[in-house]
Amino acid sequence: MRDLDNHLLVIFGASGDLTRRKLIPALFELYAQKLLPARFAILGVSRTQYSDEQYRLIVKKALSEHLNSEGSIKKTGNFMQLTHYLSVETSDSGSYDHVRDRIHLLDEKYRLNGNCIFYLATPPDLYQTVSRNLSLAGLSVSTTAWRRIIIEKPFGYNLESARHLNRQLLKCFTEEQIYRIDHYLGKESVQNVMVTRFSNGIFEPLWNRNYVNHVEITSAENLGVGTRGGYYDRAGALRDMIQNHLLQLLTLVAMEPPTRITSHAIRNETLKVLQSVRPFSKRDVKGHVIRGQYTEAAVRGEKVAAYRSEPGISGDSRTETYVALRLYIDNWRWGNVPFYIRTGKRMPTRVTEIVVHFRPSPHTLFCFSRERYNSDNQLVIRIQPDEGILLKFGMKVPGVGFNVQEVNMDFHYSELGEVQIREAYQRLLLDCMQGDSTLFTRGDAVEQSWDIIEPILKVWENDPATPLYGYPSGTWGPKEAESLIAEHGLAWRYPCRNLTDDGIYCAL
Ligand code: BG6
Repeated sequence: MRDLDNHLLVIFGASGDLTRRKLIPALFELYAQKLLPARFAILGVSRTQYSDEQYRLIVKKALSEHLNSEGSIKKTGNFMQLTHYLSVETSDSGSYDHVRDRIHLLDEKYRLNGNCIFYLATPPDLYQTVSRNLSLAGLSVSTTAWRRIIIEKPFGYNLESARHLNRQLLKCFTEEQIYRIDHYLGKESVQNVMVTRFSNGIFEPLWNRNYVNHVEITSAENLGVGTRGGYYDRAGALRDMIQNHLLQLLTLVAMEPPTRITSHAIRNETLKVLQSVRPFSKRDVKGHVIRGQYTEAAVRGEKVAAYRSEPGISGDSRTETYVALRLYIDNWRWGNVPFYIRTGKRMPTRVTEIVVHFRPSPHTLFCFSRERYNSDNQLVIRIQPDEGILLKFGMKVPGVGFNVQEVNMDFHYSELGEVQIREAYQRLLLDCMQGDSTLFTRGDAVEQSWDIIEPILKVWENDPATPLYGYPSGTWGPKEAESLIAEHGLAWRYPCRNLTDDGIYCAL
């Protein structure tokens, strides 16, 4: 890793949930692992009035509640002293003189050479305002130092608003300065998709329409909407998970090999995948997209409330908490290979994985000892939990005859023992500090992914009669999603907590 330039990290939304749950613990871990630059400071900015000392207490509390590695909290060392706070009305351009003055003071105190990252962990309706105010205050450019800005999701609410936000941001910062975060790209197992594909000679020759029958991408959560009802009810699963995280996973599975491992080369290839996704016609939306919403049920003996009874959700909400869809990528590699994507809250377990189903052997010579086994080889790339890779294939059952049984060949990251998997935000913060934008989404790709889901949003908006299926909490979603995949004679994999198990009945 190259040495990091000294710099200041300014977090807008410093007292918010994201800062407390993700950013502060990630920064502390980087500090504890001595990965931060030699000279570094944090300035939290938000509306609430706190002194530096009061803010440090919030930081301390955040660490005690959200730090994963127990023990390291005892060694906070100088970390607290690096943390500072400024209370300003972020929407008021006049307040940015104070921001500038404080930045200059800290810059001088820590001798940071003017380098600065602005992290916008604010509600999305402030992204434009804060970036414009930073620019008006002369903070977005510097002739002698670098300035970068990190924008959280959601980036836009639909295609038009995403384009608008891009246009506005580009008036204040250049594309090279903008880091649009998608925390899925910071996950070690997500980056491993590219490494698995392009560092092994055995997979790539098979990775196309001639040998791949279909691909499943699943991201299930066992939790419900929790306390985020206000945000979620306006967003829904399509915007919350598919537009960003799952389409990013799709790009990594389907992309062509990049010419080099550079931000530009990789992001060009992922963009091409998004550009090749077959646009959804109205008919496709009706036939290839299933939406659902969780209903009340008893899950492992406990009553779980319906989505409509969750805090902040209206009693007649038609927001989807589940989506399953089939899409096609119209290019030479993937012509007519169906990609099935599904996500949902209140599913039986929390799991994210990609399953590449290879075509069955063309001539069935042997009998299978389990009826369920349909002779296709599957490569399961497990993103979380029990991160790893699993290959399923047929083996002869010992004894007379030639009966075949499905067996597993599996690798689990946990077997690497001493290697610690870095949390997504740590990796992404570090990359931004290094000026490496590979794992951040480029403006054109964000717009392209909105372009893919826009027809679905339009149909749902203009035709409210489009079915929204209820599914009992703790189940794998509406049964109509089974029919979506069954049309092609297929079935979803029902993953369990541990990579090697599947099936509807398994330990959760
Ligand atoms: C967030 C969504 O982006 O991703 C949440 O807003 C979702 O609704 C979360 O729960 C899932 O992330 P992870 O890393 O837990 O899979």
